[in-house]
Amino acid sequence: MTGRAPRTTRSWWQDAVIYHVYPRSFLDTDGDGVGDLRGISHRIPYLARLGVDALWLSPFFSSPMEDFGYDIRDHTAVDSLFGDMANFDALLDTAHGHGLRVLIDYVPNHTAAAHPWFQESRSGPDSGRRDWYIWRDPAPGGGPPNNWITLFGESAWTWDSRSGQYYLHSFLSTMPDLNWRNPAVREAMFDVARFWLDRGVDGFRVDCAPLPAKDPALRDNPPASPGAMAHHRPMGGYDSQQHLYDQGHSDIHPLYRDFRILLRSYGDGPDERIALGEIHEYDWRVWSSYFGRDLDEMHLPLNFGLLRTPWQARATADLVHEVLRALPDDAVPTWVMGSHDDPRVASRVGRAQAPNAMMLLLTLPGTAILYNGDELGLPDADIAPEDIRDPWGLRTPSLSRDPARSPMPWSDGPTAGFTAPEVTPWLPVTIPPGGTAAAQEHDPSSLLTLTRALLALRRSHPALGSGTIEFLDAPTGVLAYTRSAHPQATDRSLLITLNLTDHAVPVDQVLADRFGGRSLSTLATTATRGDSRVLAPHEGVIWTPE
Ligand code: GLC
Repeated sequence: MTGRAPRTTRSWWQDAVIYHVYPRSFLDTDGDGVGDLRGISHRIPYLARLGVDALWLSPFFSSPMEDFGYDIRDHTAVDSLFGDMANFDALLDTAHGHGLRVLIDYVPNHTAAAHPWFQESRSGPDSGRRDWYIWRDPAPGGGPPNNWITLFGESAWTWDSRSGQYYLHSFLSTMPDLNWRNPAVREAMFDVARFWLDRGVDGFRVDCAPLPAKDPALRDNPPASPGAMAHHRPMGGYDSQQHLYDQGHSDIHPLYRDFRILLRSYGDGPDERIALGEIHEYDWRVWSSYFGRDLDEMHLPLNFGLLRTPWQARATADLVHEVLRALPDDAVPTWVMGSHDDPRVASRVGRAQAPNAMMLLLTLPGTAILYNGDELGLPDADIAPEDIRDPWGLRTPSLSRDPARSPMPWSDGPTAGFTAPEVTPWLPVTIPPGGTAAAQEHDPSSLLTLTRALLALRRSHPALGSGTIEFLDAPTGVLAYTRSAHPQATDRSLLITLNLTDHAVPVDQVLADRFGGRSLSTLATTATRGDSRVLAPHEGVIWTPE
């Protein structure tokens, strides 16, 4: 039993569902084959009807787009590919008008090499901005200053012959790492946050949150034990090291405490504007340290555990237990089921299980992150080698993130309504087995309809967001748990049973133990079900006493 006393007052983000929009792939309104801000505005009614609480937008800032916007050239300008600042303001107004909060990406670790800060920094060792990035002489015997590697497994140091030193980059060599030990960098980057908070954003998803704090002595990383995985999926060469010194130094904590103070100085309530941290950390005690000792750092450190956990009842229950056990009192867990960096959930768990995965995501305690397209059951797109765009995929095709980034299929036609029919989308459009959004809209058996129903249920049963969770004994392959507003409030509790197998499984015993002979109403992943207490193959059901 995992019981936590419910809090009395909750902030909007403590049981929210945050919808992650990948702007390039959402909706193209200007006919260049790439999504834009106006496209997102057009779809705000769709998102409001879906029933999410907030959206988070991946970067739309001025960028050379070598890492599709995570390489920022100007933090306070909208890239013309996506529109202009007036489009952004309009998007914010439209979203707020529909009661949706808007979070944007904040990328503290690096900029584009094309950023004027780096241009000035690399102009020479005496540049006023030299120390804004991390420059070092070669190691005593020559070569890079230490053994750090990028996510692609290459040296994280590039020699700059013009200014005669190496600079550090955790990703592409065109994405140099900022030096957060320089107070001027911190101030300039805090100003970036202020700029967007002043415009009215409700918070940030902080990219690569542990990376800005590196070992001050830049010590070599130790080798990883064989088979160890630094990420939630095998990352090739990157997994050969234990990433002890290139990120997550304890100085990260004062940094995010200050960032929280900055956020607190905005908004009507003390904690209205929030920080969501991208933290790939699977030692849950380390992960939980990002909340801060007094819950004064990240509001919501993102938790990617579901992405590295096999789709099995026991493993999933164990993960939830471990995460909740590590969670500080009064903190709120987050659950990520998909992102622009990971294989799609419908491909990971399989088409038949995708509805169960959605049911799980939306019935776990805390805050859920829903990646665009997952509500349609979009699978990984098949991308021909010549169509690969992702810099990771261009290096190692098996790591390509393009399959998860294909455009949203809205309606009929050669480009599925993503862009004009005669335009070639930046990545090929894929139609999910359940059809486009338009086709799923009025189909009672569609994943879109189910997602909408789950979100509506979540609103009418606060226990789903903030209540306790208790896992129950269940037949093999069935994940069964209750969500209750109070540990003993069986009256208003909900019982969730997810059949992760491909055969029918009776759950009458689980139901009898919990609810006796009471009549129960149900919300199922299948469109119609009788009053049987048997789960059909792959079926998930939420049971509530009538
Ligand atoms: C994060 C982003 C990813 C990007 C990387 C570098 O992991 O999610 O898309 O490539 O940071 O900014």
